[in-house]
Amino acid sequence: MKRVAYCGDVTDHFLGQSITVVGWAHRRRDHGGVIFIDLRDREGLLQIVIHPDNTAAFSVGEKIRNEFVLQVTGKVQARLEGTVNEKLKTGKVELVADLVDILNSADPVPFRIDEHQAVSEEVRLKYRYLDLRRHEMSQRLKTRAHITRVMRDFLNAEGFIDVETPFLTKSTPEGARDYLVPSRVHTGEFFALPQSPQLFKQLLMMSGMDRYYQIVKCFRDEDLRADRQPEFTQLDIEMSFIDENDIQTLMESMVRRLFKEVIQVDLPEQFLRMTYKEAMWRYGSDKPDMRIPLELVEVGDLMRDVDFKVFSGPANDPNGRVAAMKVSGAADLSRKDIEDYTQLVAIYGAKGLAYIKVNDLEKGVEGLQSPIVKFIPQKIVDEILRRLSAQNGDIIFFGADNHNIVNDALGALRSRLGYDRKLLISDWAVLWIVDFPMFEFSEGRWNSLHHPFTAPVLTSLDELTTSPAELISRGYDLVINGYEVGGGSIRIHQTAMQQKVFELLGIGEKEAQAKFGFLLEALKFGCPPHGGIAFGVDRLTMLLTNTASIRDVIAFPKTQTAQCLLMDAPSLVDKKQLQELGIRVNTSQ
Ligand code: AMO
Ligand code: AMP
Repeated sequence: MKRVAYCGDVTDHFLGQSITVVGWAHRRRDHGGVIFIDLRDREGLLQIVIHPDNTAAFSVGEKIRNEFVLQVTGKVQARLEGTVNEKLKTGKVELVADLVDILNSADPVPFRIDEHQAVSEEVRLKYRYLDLRRHEMSQRLKTRAHITRVMRDFLNAEGFIDVETPFLTKSTPEGARDYLVPSRVHTGEFFALPQSPQLFKQLLMMSGMDRYYQIVKCFRDEDLRADRQPEFTQLDIEMSFIDENDIQTLMESMVRRLFKEVIQVDLPEQFLRMTYKEAMWRYGSDKPDMRIPLELVEVGDLMRDVDFKVFSGPANDPNGRVAAMKVSGAADLSRKDIEDYTQLVAIYGAKGLAYIKVNDLEKGVEGLQSPIVKFIPQKIVDEILRRLSAQNGDIIFFGADNHNIVNDALGALRSRLGYDRKLLISDWAVLWIVDFPMFEFSEGRWNSLHHPFTAPVLTSLDELTTSPAELISRGYDLVINGYEVGGGSIRIHQTAMQQKVFELLGIGEKEAQAKFGFLLEALKFGCPPHGGIAFGVDRLTMLLTNTASIRDVIAFPKTQTAQCLLMDAPSLVDKKQLQELGIRVNTSQ
């Protein structure tokens, strides 16, 4: 084949030249005896013109249907005035065909390649190879490749070594269920696919690699959402002899470089750092979208003695919170809007969504519209309005319940209102969340907020047993536009501390030995202080390609129910295979 250029790259640079192109017939139009074909390849479309006086080419042209694979040789000429298509990179030229070859025919396709809007995602995923012929999709995959190229270039130049770690391994706890792989040789035993290469990268630090990275698949059997897949890709990084500031600064350079090279956006020289506590307090979330200028304001102290139990209850409960959020100029929200928002917060467990619409401050209570002001003394209402600097035309929402519910509910409401009311004040907002609590207490036990290998901020080991609730970890997350795109920490590098953390998490000595004996031992043989981070490559690509679905940036993704519709996986296997593995399936469960 003697292709000269991609269809999408044939611009007026080629004017007057005779060239050969190949691609797919995107669309054929017959115009008064002239056949026009939009020939498509991964770079874009090129208009082919077949004149009837070229009888050989014309008779081939008449047979062409959508998605036929063609090779065309011809001369590049300027389009006639009035037929120029400014939207296309190749829109000023066309290729007048001398020779047209059909390299392959195609059956009618289940959907037209440019008409995905009307096509269900199920059909798109079943025929993913056709979906990927769409320009929008191939562009996303190209951007993804650009992103990983910039990452590699950056890290290679900084002296990082790319090391592969095993997929057939042991459970690596990151808080999800494991995907298990049965062993044929060791009947009844299972490998686990890694939820991340966490333990291997720490072991690589113990072997003196000093700076490691890997762009690697991770596997987590967890509930899927718009930004989660059961197998996804991390840029995984680990470094020795560093502290939080070293790694954050280096990662800021990398992320800045990514944004600059991939989408020509300049991010700030230094990213904002915010403590977990402040983020929860002010935004109800540990991944706040800082483009939204709405904040939660504490009003619990004002509500302790009011006659309204819904507020006074949580105001007097150490685990409770009463918070208010003002939305300027949004008093025009209708009853129906507020009902919709009440349903939204109900998803997070909120039992209602009280509000005050500020119609006319001068009229006092008369100027307020609210289902709750009648329960609250005027003095306190005035103080709320003052604290929130309320103006005529504003609305104030309230959440009252335990901390978690109020934070989740108002945090979600904040994001929704930000979009619905078009409040975003910038295109990009990047920040580090730091000073996470080390542990959280739920369902009667302590759990790690990050993972059990994260180091605490400690003055003495005893604090681990005396005050676990107050301990801060040396973990950090990178948040961009409300997405957690990366997370990491400085690790524990001493056996005694690691043992204590396992103990606190309810992992007894025996279990710790069985699950992590290799780590506890390795820590004894000269482990350097170390730390690292992992970025969600899929999530970063979503942000940089401006799409809200993680499936749009993965060539062959799984559905929301963790299936591959294209291959039809998972699927039943032969009895013989199961026998070899010593497995009997009980489908009655
Ligand atoms: P963590 O669990 O925070 O940390 O994961 C790091 C980043 O990976 C992305 N991510 C996901 N992306 C898509 N689908 C998923 N199911 C999914 N789960 C996580 C997120 C997240 O920020 N070993 C640690 C890292 C470390 O401590 O160095 C870890 O895996 O963007
Ligand atoms: P009720 O007394 O249940 O009719 O509630 C009066 C108002 O308070 C309604 O607007 C409810 O939506 C709201 N409300 C009820 N429970 C809560 C809560 N836990 N947090 C915030 N608002 C609430």
